[in-house]
Amino acid sequence: FGSAATTIKRNPSFATLNSDDISYFKGILGEKYVVQDELALELANSDWMHKYKGSSRLILLPRSTDEVSQILKYCNSRHLAVVPEGGNTGLVGGSVPVFDEVIIKMSSMSNIIAFDKVSGILVCEAGCILENLISFLDNQGFIMPLDLGAKGSCQIGGNVSTNAGGLHLVRYGSLHGNVLGLEAVLANGTVLDMLGTLRKDNTGYDLKHLFIGSEGSLGIVTKVSILTPPKLSAVNIAFLACNDYLSCQKLLLEAKSKLGEILSAFEFLDSEAMELVVNHLEGVRNPLSPSMHNFYVLIETTGSDESYDKEKLEAFLFRSMESGLISDGVLAQDSNQASSFWRIREGIPEALMRAGAVYKYDLSLPVENMYNLVEEMRVRLAQKAKVVGYGHLGDGNLHLNISAPQSDDMILAQIEPYVYEWTSKYRGSISAEHGLGLMKANEIFYSKSHETVQVMASIKKLLDPHGILNPYKVLPHSLSSC
Ligand code: FAD
Ligand code: MLT
Ligand code: ZN
Repeated sequence: FGSAATTIKRNPSFATLNSDDISYFKGILGEKYVVQDELALELANSDWMHKYKGSSRLILLPRSTDEVSQILKYCNSRHLAVVPEGGNTGLVGGSVPVFDEVIIKMSSMSNIIAFDKVSGILVCEAGCILENLISFLDNQGFIMPLDLGAKGSCQIGGNVSTNAGGLHLVRYGSLHGNVLGLEAVLANGTVLDMLGTLRKDNTGYDLKHLFIGSEGSLGIVTKVSILTPPKLSAVNIAFLACNDYLSCQKLLLEAKSKLGEILSAFEFLDSEAMELVVNHLEGVRNPLSPSMHNFYVLIETTGSDESYDKEKLEAFLFRSMESGLISDGVLAQDSNQASSFWRIREGIPEALMRAGAVYKYDLSLPVENMYNLVEEMRVRLAQKAKVVGYGHLGDGNLHLNISAPQSDDMILAQIEPYVYEWTSKYRGSISAEHGLGLMKANEIFYSKSHETVQVMASIKKLLDPHGILNPYKVLPHSLSSC
């Protein structure tokens, strides 16, 4: 457990589930969609990292917005706390109950509602798995504007609720730009239809943004409308090595100016991250001469002219090699090789899980200072743990991960609050893309002022007066429970 959860007490104003509640839910949803099975509960109570574990006795599987509305209306009147659960791939303990909250699983709302080829606008239900949307769009000649390693399980509703960033944000921007509309259900069951499909709409406050990144604390997202870019024919991927972090930085600057509009990913990992994937994931190997390099960079370009794009990338690589920014590199020759490069980068979280206990930090920092933190942590922790750095360098997002044979409070005390203080000193964010969840709810002040958090708490109170939606998450416990 992270430090936040250990101090939390169950909010006594919440009711405890009884048999009348179960009968009521069965009446709305039908027997099959009211789940009390032990195995299903065990899975739904535990997060992807097996770090956060609740003790809910009930999973509800709504199939429509109306069912979500009826569930929430009832829970609100009964003061029953709930946790919305998407694909349960969240990394901050936000998607699982802390105590006995009712789990509202969105997986049965997985219909694609409409796709307009002219505008590229997709409208779908919140429970659609990201990878299914990617495949659907691929057949239509389009792509999703976001991609992440958890695509096989995470849902678009979860992505929107966490404002997930991922591997292509450097090119297509954040979900605050790509989500054109959404439908959400408030704690009292009110359905907010904000499912617009317009690029431009300046009629009053744009409330949909409140639900993008609010981690299920303000409402349940039931439908999403999202702008999708056309699929372009020329995708190239290079896997490169750099001797030092300064070269990675300079390479990023060069890539932005020389590859310009075709740059679609700029990811980095250090040699410790490479060692982990090679040692813990089957079939993964370092495509460059092993044990020679300190840093690796994955660059992807996406454009519409195969020969022009390739020429541009090759010229960029040649110049970077000549100037010494890159010490080695390989350009994917086919889609299998391209996938194997992505597997290295996307496989890091899984490799970390296999290596033992992991302390995860997802930070936005000025690119020039970012890696100093990794080095300082290595000095602080000495031989006690492995310190791993990787992330979305193109977005100024460092994933600092500390891997130890087992969880150890002494190690945690060396990491926190040091990492948060360091981030705050550089005016960074303690959550670049994963959210606050349970893990960082009490740490919000490292990145937001008291006045700002107070306004957030007022919005929460307005939309969810009894605090039933995903309690103990996002906002500091002292503010959200009063
Ligand atoms: P869940 O984990 O189920 O839920 C996440 C939060 O959203 C919870 O607070 C939950 O209550 C809330 N929620 C879920 N659905 C709804 C809904 N319909 N309405 C309201 N609230 C809801 N994140 C990134 O940003 N970038 C990455 O590159 C990235 N890579 C990852 C790679 C791996 C291997 C893993 C395991 C995770 C990764 N993540 C990444 C984190 C995670 O996958 C994302 O945050 C994802 O968007 C969560 O989606 P989900 O459906 O699994 O949501
Ligand atoms: C990633 O970029 O791989 C994800 O955000 C997951 C992680 O940080 O481990
Ligand atoms: Zn990430």
